[in-house]
Amino acid sequence: MEAEPVQFLWRRYEERLEPARRVVARFVGARPQDLVFVANATTGVNAVLRSIVLRPGDEVLTTNQDYNACRNVLTETCRRARARVVVAEVPFPLRKPEQVLEAILRCVTRRTRLAMIDHVTSSTALVFPVARIVNELEARGVDTLVDGAHAPGMVPVHIGRLKPSYYTANLHKWVCAPKGTAFLWARQDKQRNLQPAVISHGNNTPRPGFTAFQDRFDWAGTLDPSPWLCAGAAIDWMGKLLSGGWPELRETNHQLAVKARNLLCDRLSVEPPCPETMLGAMATVPLPETFQGRPRTAKIDAEQCRLYDQFGIEVPFFRCGHPERRWLRISAQVYNTLGDYEYLSAALSAL
Ligand SMILES: Cc1ncc(COP(=O)(O)O)c(C=O)c1O
Repeated sequence: MEAEPVQFLWRRYEERLEPARRVVARFVGARPQDLVFVANATTGVNAVLRSIVLRPGDEVLTTNQDYNACRNVLTETCRRARARVVVAEVPFPLRKPEQVLEAILRCVTRRTRLAMIDHVTSSTALVFPVARIVNELEARGVDTLVDGAHAPGMVPVHIGRLKPSYYTANLHKWVCAPKGTAFLWARQDKQRNLQPAVISHGNNTPRPGFTAFQDRFDWAGTLDPSPWLCAGAAIDWMGKLLSGGWPELRETNHQLAVKARNLLCDRLSVEPPCPETMLGAMATVPLPETFQGRPRTAKIDAEQCRLYDQFGIEVPFFRCGHPERRWLRISAQVYNTLGDYEYLSAALSAL
C-alpha cells in the first residue's frame, strides 16, 4: 500500500476486496451483494441510525443490556428527531430466554420504528434468542437492527435465515481478524436509503457489477483497508485449527466457558446467573460479597488493574443492576485451558 498507493487503493482494490467479502458472506449465511465492510460494529450501528427517518414521538427500542456506545447513538439520533429511546428491562440474573423476549415485546407500541437487539450481550454475556425476537418484531412491523458485535465465530450466524432488517458485527473479536474488520448487512428492501456513517464518493460513482449499496460503503475516504482484505484469510485459518472446523471450535470454546463458569462459581461460592444454554464462549459471574459495595474510583476498577498488573490476567469487571452489583466476565478461546480459570480464582482470592 505504501509502495504504490494508487495501485493498491484504487486500481486493484476491488479484486482484493471481493474474495474477502465472499468468504465473510458465506460464513454468516448472507449474499455478498447485501454485505459491506465497516470499521467496527459501532460504525454499523451509526450508519443505520443516521439513515432512518424518525418523526417526533416515534420510539426506538433497546434493552438495558445494550452496549453503551450503541446506546449513545440511539440517544443522539432520537434527541435530534424528538423521538424516544424505550429501554426494555431484561432481568439479570434470569432463568430462561423467554424472559428476554417477553421484556422486549412488552415495550412494543404503535410508535416503535426500530429495535436494536444484541445477539450476544456485552456485560452480561447472554446469547439472546434473536431468531424469535426478530420474528416477533418484524411481524409487528418493527425494523430490527441486530448488534452481533460478539456473535460471528462465537455462535452460529445465518443472516439469510434470520432475516432482520439490518445486522452488523465484528470480525475482530471471535474471528480474530485484524482490528477494524466488521460488516454491515442490510436486507434488500432496506438498502436504498441506507447511507454509510462516512459519506464519500459512492453516492454518484457507480461501478459496474456492484450494487449502489456497495458503492456507497466500499470507499469511506482514504484509509488502510488491509484488515478487510484479511477477513477471508482469518475465517479460513481459524476454521482449520480443529479437525471439525468452525462448529468444533465454537463448541470447544462453549464447553470451556461452561466448565470455567462452574469452577469459578464453585470456588467463589456464587450462583450462576443464567442457564448454560444462554452462554456462548463467555460467561458473566457475580463477584463475591467482599467485592460488592466498593465505589468506582477510576476508569477501570482497582481490582481489574491489580489482576493485570500482579497476575497478568486480563478480565473485565462490570457494574450493573439496581442496587448495583459487581460482576466479572470470562472468555474462552481455543488457546485457553481450565488451568487459566483456576489461576484466576486463586488470584481473586489473593486480591
Ligand atoms: C454488544 C456490542 N456492541 C457493540 C460493540 C462495539 O464494538 P466496536 O468497539 O468494535 O465497535 C461491542 C464491543 O464490545 C459489543 O459488545
